[in-house]
Amino acid sequence: MSVAVICPGSFDPITLGHLDVFERASRRFDRVVIAVLGNPRKEGLFTVEERMELITTETAHLDNIEVDRFHGLLVDFCADRGIGIVCKGLRGGSDFEYEQQMAQMNQRIGDLETLFVSTSPAHGYLSSSLVKEVARAGGRFEGTVPPAVEAALRARFA
Ligand code: PNS
Repeated sequence: MSVAVICPGSFDPITLGHLDVFERASRRFDRVVIAVLGNPRKEGLFTVEERMELITTETAHLDNIEVDRFHGLLVDFCADRGIGIVCKGLRGGSDFEYEQQMAQMNQRIGDLETLFVSTSPAHGYLSSSLVKEVARAGGRFEGTVPPAVEAALRARFA
């Protein structure tokens, strides 16, 4: 049986922590769909298209990954695609409460199961928001994001 999972998120932009979760999901599952949430009410630093392009570039070495976008409910997107499992990274306790609520809601409204991957210790402190804050202020953020993202952030804040 072929098992597909979805890694959903805002990914504005991806960090090395996200990439680590994608790579580990890619090793354990047959097919991994990375789905970027397009939120018309929340403008990000990068457009959804730019985020997808950065993810596509940085996951080019993984042959079972697809990059897509969605809006509305995750359960509806997954039902359309025939995907029954969400795979998400957990940095620690502060992530857990909210992630568990979402997992339980998705299970209830869409029979969608969520599997949590414990973030690698080296990436436990990383978040897109913090990286953007440091990059925006001219701080040193190398080693927190993959190369294409680093270049895109430098260009954005030049
Ligand atoms: O990277 P993020 O912002 O933590 O990702 C959150 C995301 C996109 C996974 C979550 O907000 C989501 O699934 N949104 C889609 C709307 C939805 O299904 N809401 C109900 C969740 S229980």
